[in-house]
Amino acid sequence: MKIGMREGYGGTGPGVITPDGCAVELYARLPVGDEPDVIAAAVPAGAHILELGSGVGRVTHALLERGFTVTAVDESAAMLARVRGARTICGPIETLDLGETFDAVMLASFLVHAGDEEVRRGLLRTCARHVAEGGCVLIQREGSDYHTNVPRERVDPSGFTVRITSVEPAGEDVHSVHAEYVFPDAVWTQTFLSRPLTKEQFESALAEAGLRVDRYLTPDGIWVRAVPVG
Ligand SMILES: C[S@@+](CC[C@H](N)C(=O)[O-])C[C@H]1O[C@@H](n2cnc3c(N)ncnc32)[C@H](O)[C@@H]1O
Repeated sequence: MKIGMREGYGGTGPGVITPDGCAVELYARLPVGDEPDVIAAAVPAGAHILELGSGVGRVTHALLERGFTVTAVDESAAMLARVRGARTICGPIETLDLGETFDAVMLASFLVHAGDEEVRRGLLRTCARHVAEGGCVLIQREGSDYHTNVPRERVDPSGFTVRITSVEPAGEDVHSVHAEYVFPDAVWTQTFLSRPLTKEQFESALAEAGLRVDRYLTPDGIWVRAVPVG
């Protein structure tokens, strides 16, 4: 079932597909990786985290187990229906205005590479609007070879293979990325738009939103801790 797909985005496979082409059943199966470790090392114990684009709660649940409080935001009600133990808010991130601030705001899953620059600006402004004084924004960016090391695949020890099968030009400075997730009993695909951002472009996008890099949290530069300017 597809509802209100974003232009340039799509997905196939069993179950509900979100407007950005993600499959709810797929995300319910994907194991959590090192994200909770990276986040826990960058925010104070017990922090209240605003997680933007939480999906089914793959990372949310691990953060709750570590004693964080999480408010989870997603535009897919079907995704949020799987989230347990967190306050959930259904709607687009780019226009979110809760009138409250959080110790940490998280924008993971490469959402900062949104194909539409206006959407990206909105996402980063939402991060800036919701971060408390003294708090931080945690952002997950693409690795440096994300658009060039193609095709590539990773066999996950839990028993599925993820492939990036193609990355094709889809407009000025935007690529259409095609991904496949192959399980023994099911296959999901996702096609989405991604705008590559050099470190300089990423940092200037942050500056536009009134944010600056505090530090890169991982040696590959993928996870970033940002703070409000001034
Ligand atoms: C790739 S999934 C990742 C989910 C989760 N962060 C994870 O790592 O398991 C991206 C999620 O972000 C949501 N999403 C993408 N763009 C959004 C937007 N502009 N506003 C609200 N939700 C959005 C999708 O509905 C989807 O659930």
